Amino acid sequence: MMVTLLGATTLVLVTLAPWVLSAAAGGKNLKSPQKVEVDVIDDNFILRWNRSEESVGNVTFSFDCQKPEMDNWIKLPGCQNITSTKCNFSSLKLNVYEEIKLRIRAEKENTSSWYEVDSFIPFRKAQIGPPEVHLEAEDKAIVIYISPPGTEDSVMWALDRSSFTYSLVIWKNSSSVEERIVNIYSRHKISKLSPETTYCLKVKAALLTSRKIGVYSPVHCIKTTVCTLGGRGRWIT
Ligand SMILES: *[C@@H]1O[C@H](CO)[C@@H](O)[C@H](O)[C@H]1NC(C)=O
Ligand SMILES: *[C@@H]1O[C@H](CO)[C@@H](O)[C@H](O)[C@H]1NC(C)=O
Ligand SMILES: *[C@@H]1O[C@H](CO)[C@@H](O)[C@H](O)[C@H]1NC(C)=O
Ligand SMILES: *[C@@H]1O[C@H](CO)[C@@H](O)[C@H](O)[C@H]1NC(C)=O
Ligand SMILES: *[C@@H]1O[C@H](CO)[C@@H](O)[C@H](O)[C@H]1NC(C)=O
Ligand SMILES: *[C@@H]1O[C@H](CO)[C@@H](O)[C@H](O)[C@H]1NC(C)=O
Repeated sequence: MMVTLLGATTLVLVTLAPWVLSAAAGGKNLKSPQKVEVDVIDDNFILRWNRSEESVGNVTFSFDCQKPEMDNWIKLPGCQNITSTKCNFSSLKLNVYEEIKLRIRAEKENTSSWYEVDSFIPFRKAQIGPPEVHLEAEDKAIVIYISPPGTEDSVMWALDRSSFTYSLVIWKNSSSVEERIVNIYSRHKISKLSPETTYCLKVKAALLTSRKIGVYSPVHCIKTTVCTLGGRGRWIT
């Protein structure tokens, strides 16, 4: 008799629990954001979301993450108790080829329910940032030195650093006529230019095997030198 009664009580509690919980946790119906953007550029991982109208005042947001080998969720570093609508979790050590799951909730006095972001594989999501560009001028040529996007210890591009190809657009500063040069490598010389003329160019990187095309570097301008007989280039190389 006792056992039956206990069983029945437990059953009722279990049935009620979700309803009671959601009413309490909802409080004033604190809603979690329902749309989260994940931006991955090189090794930078940024999350952006929008707050719902009612989540004003002292609302904060926190993310959890789950890696494939884990059964439970852990707090996402850099994305705890965020008062704005953007956070940076670049410090998380990840295998960029493995799927990762994220979830967000809003917190005030109580918390909203978790909203689960679509899982993703960082490498597939990653966009290629601008490459580093260094220019040297001769009288009729510009030599372009390009470093791969990201930092030297980039995890994202660790296996790809030597696979990047580059393309560039160059124009005379005084003209809008552009020339495109594609499929170049980390050092490239553009010849047959005019002396004492300012040229501007921008460079972007691509990983053709992964079908990724990066964003352009900032525009770099350089003035070719005064014409020298025979050309300085031949003397130094
Ligand atoms: C927070 O939840 C508790 C119960 O857990 C409830 O008593 C309280 O009213 C809630 N606060 C708000 C602001 O919703
Ligand atoms: C947030 O709102 C702005 C303006 O309405 C919109 O442009 C942006 O895409 C939204 N972001 C997300 C993550 O929903
Ligand atoms: C936010 O919190 C601070 C201190 O915790 C409090 O003084 C302030 O009134 C709160 N603001 C709102 C809008 O709830
Ligand atoms: C976030 O807030 C909770 C509750 O106020 C607190 O326990 C926790 O230490 C905070 N975490 C960070 C990273 O500030
Ligand atoms: C994100 O954090 C990393 C360090 O963990 C920093 O290098 C990077 O500049 C930050 N990115 C942004 C957009 O704040
Ligand atoms: C490019 O040309 C514009 C207008 O002709 C001039 O204002 C600017 O200083 C030039 N830039 C360089 C780097 O020479």
